[in-house]
Amino acid sequence: MTKIDPTQLSPDDWDEVNFPRPDENDFDRVVESAISRRGFLGGVLAFGSGAAAMGAGLMSSTSARAAQDTSRFAFTPIAAQTDNTVHVPEGYSWKVLARWGDPLFSDADGYDITDGGPVDRSDRVFGENTDGMETFDFNGHTLIAINHEYPNRKINLPAAQEGKPANANDVKKFQNIQGVTVMEITETPEGWAVIKDSPFNRRIHHNTPMKIVGPAAGHDLLKTEADPTGTTSLGTMNNCGAGKTPWGTYLTCEENFNGYFGSTDETASYDQKVADGFKRYGVKAESWNGYEGFDPRFDTSKAPNEPHRAGWIVEIDPADPESTPVKHTGLGRLKHENAEVAIAPDGRVVVYMGDDERGEYLYRFVSNGTYQPGGPTEGLLNDGTLYVARFNDDQTGQWLALTPESTGMEPADIAIFTRLAASKVDATTMDRPEWVATSPVAVEAYCCLTNNKNRGVKPNGGGDDTSANPVNPRETNHYGQIVRWRPAGDDHAADGFDWDLYVMAGNPTVHSDAYAGSANVNEGNLFNSPDGMAIDSTGLVWIQTDGDDGNEGDFLGNGNNQMLVGDPVTGEIVRFLTGPSGSEVTGLTWSDDLRTMFVGIQHPGGTWPDGEGLPRSSIIAVKRDDNGILG
Ligand code: FEO
Ligand code: CA
Ligand code: CA
Repeated sequence: MTKIDPTQLSPDDWDEVNFPRPDENDFDRVVESAISRRGFLGGVLAFGSGAAAMGAGLMSSTSARAAQDTSRFAFTPIAAQTDNTVHVPEGYSWKVLARWGDPLFSDADGYDITDGGPVDRSDRVFGENTDGMETFDFNGHTLIAINHEYPNRKINLPAAQEGKPANANDVKKFQNIQGVTVMEITETPEGWAVIKDSPFNRRIHHNTPMKIVGPAAGHDLLKTEADPTGTTSLGTMNNCGAGKTPWGTYLTCEENFNGYFGSTDETASYDQKVADGFKRYGVKAESWNGYEGFDPRFDTSKAPNEPHRAGWIVEIDPADPESTPVKHTGLGRLKHENAEVAIAPDGRVVVYMGDDERGEYLYRFVSNGTYQPGGPTEGLLNDGTLYVARFNDDQTGQWLALTPESTGMEPADIAIFTRLAASKVDATTMDRPEWVATSPVAVEAYCCLTNNKNRGVKPNGGGDDTSANPVNPRETNHYGQIVRWRPAGDDHAADGFDWDLYVMAGNPTVHSDAYAGSANVNEGNLFNSPDGMAIDSTGLVWIQTDGDDGNEGDFLGNGNNQMLVGDPVTGEIVRFLTGPSGSEVTGLTWSDDLRTMFVGIQHPGGTWPDGEGLPRSSIIAVKRDDNGILG
């Protein structure tokens, strides 16, 4: 049997290998459910249901061709690439803004091309593995907040065997290079640059003090020896996508937090090490990154409630470097992807949130209070109701409230074990919900459903059925799709919506069935695994990928991971940017004047971008050569 090298796996892949979802759902039941489903749909399960769910225009090749003649895109799309650099269309250029290890302060130890630099003051440099980000204009200062999702173990600790921490110093280095960077940037004649020593520069990492607020704050399951109140914690981890509130704060989302915890108790049985509450979230006996051996806070035999203090959305005020970040338990505990905030017509705050795991759910929070510009914002992310999405076969849908009445659970338990609550209300299991984006020019929202090899194969971690359905129409879905919904009454707080599939990724050069993708996928724009997403001020949909970049077989012609842009009306999608080989393109935001687009390049391969030493995850600034607006 081939032994898998854990250091080569991202935390979510690691989950799949090391914590395979239990076969607790007996095989017979799975097969029976798949067969009856197939019967119901008349034997054309995947393609039939997928076609029904596509917007009429998108399924028409005439319409796709017409779109070519009336393109809204101001550039000539680029070809797929397999090399080790970034490509953008003619008339555009890119430049690195910040790389892992770049000093944010004069007292930081410099970057070292052999090992990235010493642990000392590794929290004074730009972090690793960039992900979601947002810009903020504050009193004439341009601030940018950027997530650092997880370490690249062999790259960040090249001296450690298998990239596994060998001592507390190694753990400290990992802890310091993850989390969030807030920094001030400025545009100079040579391009965008970080202002070193700006009073706004800040690193938030795995040991930064946080407040815990909302329905689960103070609950017994959140109390630890170090924090008997259950209202303060240290650090934020696995910061994936992001969000921005209208009141100028940054939301960072804790995704695969489970991989940071393990037990050092060698005498305990597996079930003793993995408490019931851990199972649905994938907290297991051994961590992904080896923290538990050197930092007791991550040792579940010593701090059994610590995993309950992760998996939240954290609010950060980028304009106040002294502020304490706040964990909002009202937004639920999931493997949070991003947090897309919309304001309902009556002022209520709506937050859309994906839970990125195979067969998990799409969520929405609606506040009780209303947002008034300049008014108080306390409670707006906690005092309200969580909902989970049901996508009906007839392209309508409902947001199902997670309340004590609907779930039989107390409010604090709904917050801490949100997945268990969602499983009780007949919501729709999804193909790994990644980023949600809302349009600034139309009352609609999009969610990337990146892929799901388990669709139609086995249930989710809670035993919920994952047979193919119209919104997740393909079994063993390795390409992904983007679902779009329009809330009833043009109100994001309304409980009903209509939906369609904006695109089903696929490969029409390899397949002629549903795996060819929808009609707006063609030889010129092949991609797989849509993940990051943002909609610009004109309503165009920017799509980033984190998929198979092997460029062969089912993925032939896809090339490296990339960023595409889609027209929401015609469905046309074109390729704008390709990342270096090995990388994921993730994280996207604009400068205030919309003349710069900041794009994140996570885990590049080779020696990008320096051309020597270790590869370094970076943020690049993309501009038009004529300094025109690009979004
Ligand atoms: Fe961190 Fe689901 O991507
Ligand atoms: Ca992602
Ligand atoms: Ca990803």
